[in-house]
Amino acid sequence: MTHATPLSRRSLLKAGAAFAAAPILAPLAAAAQTSAPLTLRAGKSSTALRPAPYGLTDVWSYNGSTPGPEIRVKQGERVRIMASNALDEPTTIHWHGIRTPNAMDGVGGLTQAPIEKGGEFLYEFDALDAGTFWYHPHQRSFEQVGRGLYGPLIVEEADPVQVDREVTWMLDDWRMTNEGQLDDSFGSRHDAAHGGRIGNTVTINGEIPDRIAVQSGERIRLRLINAANARIFGLQFGGLSPVVIAMDGQPVTPHTPPDEVVVLGPAMRVDLILDMSGKAGDTTIVSDIFYEELEYELVKLAYGPTALRDAAPDWPMTLTPNPLSEPDIAAATRHQIVFNGGMMGQMMMGADRGAMMEQIRQGSMWFINGKAAMDHLAAPLLSLPLGSSHIFEMENSTGWPHPIHFHGHSFRVIARNGRPTPHQEWQDTVMMAPEERVEIAFVADNPGDWMFHCHILEHQAAGMMGFVRVE
Ligand code: C2O
Ligand code: CU
Repeated sequence: MTHATPLSRRSLLKAGAAFAAAPILAPLAAAAQTSAPLTLRAGKSSTALRPAPYGLTDVWSYNGSTPGPEIRVKQGERVRIMASNALDEPTTIHWHGIRTPNAMDGVGGLTQAPIEKGGEFLYEFDALDAGTFWYHPHQRSFEQVGRGLYGPLIVEEADPVQVDREVTWMLDDWRMTNEGQLDDSFGSRHDAAHGGRIGNTVTINGEIPDRIAVQSGERIRLRLINAANARIFGLQFGGLSPVVIAMDGQPVTPHTPPDEVVVLGPAMRVDLILDMSGKAGDTTIVSDIFYEELEYELVKLAYGPTALRDAAPDWPMTLTPNPLSEPDIAAATRHQIVFNGGMMGQMMMGADRGAMMEQIRQGSMWFINGKAAMDHLAAPLLSLPLGSSHIFEMENSTGWPHPIHFHGHSFRVIARNGRPTPHQEWQDTVMMAPEERVEIAFVADNPGDWMFHCHILEHQAAGMMGFVRVE
């Protein structure tokens, strides 16, 4: 893709150079879940997104920090969170990728009334699946998430894979002004019709780190979460071979991704095993190479003076699968879902442009089966009988990539362009390249109304969303 706003590589590097600490590997404030609910208070704060000499940036955040606190529970435990709203507008919290009861899904206007300014809402659900998840508002997400409202939600396995250290990197991409504040253009029609709000400042856990200390021979489990509105990451770990052990929280056969590049669309998560195979004193550069002409260095891994061990440990990497219902592929009902819209050159892309014109006039730019959000939110896109198996045959008839997210369920990605996928991975958000066809399969086993949308938040806001009813 060549349509991104150029990332200000120089400002990233300059900013990074002054910053030699390594706070990124330290866990975020962990909050044990016992009987009293943890409070997540959405409000305004300011933070050093860029290190000195830059000043603070005004953001919206949970409990005064972006990302918000890392919530950690054990699989099977009950999560209880009191959401409180100190913003000037209504909000909600959605637990991305977690299979919750419908009333706890946090979609304003669909599963609950939005939490008004000054209001509270108690979220309560059991953590059925272990894995890497996250939370964010589902109310004007393009601005609320874009201003910094999000945090990690980690559900620990009873028998995790053995590693020396566990690290969470929540990646974000901010569009900042020269004055170091967030650019106000949230919801711009140009962004919505193109690749979304691509920014110019990439952070790891709300900071721009220069280097992160590692040890030769060390094994790290790296939990990557893409919290950006629109940026897709393609991470390359210098000479290291990352091994993917989970995608969107769900275990997958451990494998090295094609070209050793870890691709992460908005909202997606990948758990990696990284064996630090460099020598003591080495430096490894982690870079983002997704947008070819705009490669930049994300961070350096700096090896300490001593080695932890001489060779990578031979500890197993396979995680225990979560209790997901296996779809019956042979008996599954197939549904065609076609995505249209967006700009290519001067053209609005659509199979039936005439029928879409009225919706375009009303502000929609993206369509699912020829209709935009205003229709899809009035009635479900599909109604699926509880307990039945389904295959969505999805087709991206646009010139843009889209990370398509389905709430309340995980699905298997069974085929791309008619060919079975090598890992038949479980996901909750699947990247579709332009013109790509992707088949996903799942059991509709969670009753309720579940959002189905593009997680480029500007695309979602401009019509690329609907909901699926399971009853
Ligand atoms: Cu991450 Cu519908 O959301
Ligand atoms: Cu999209």
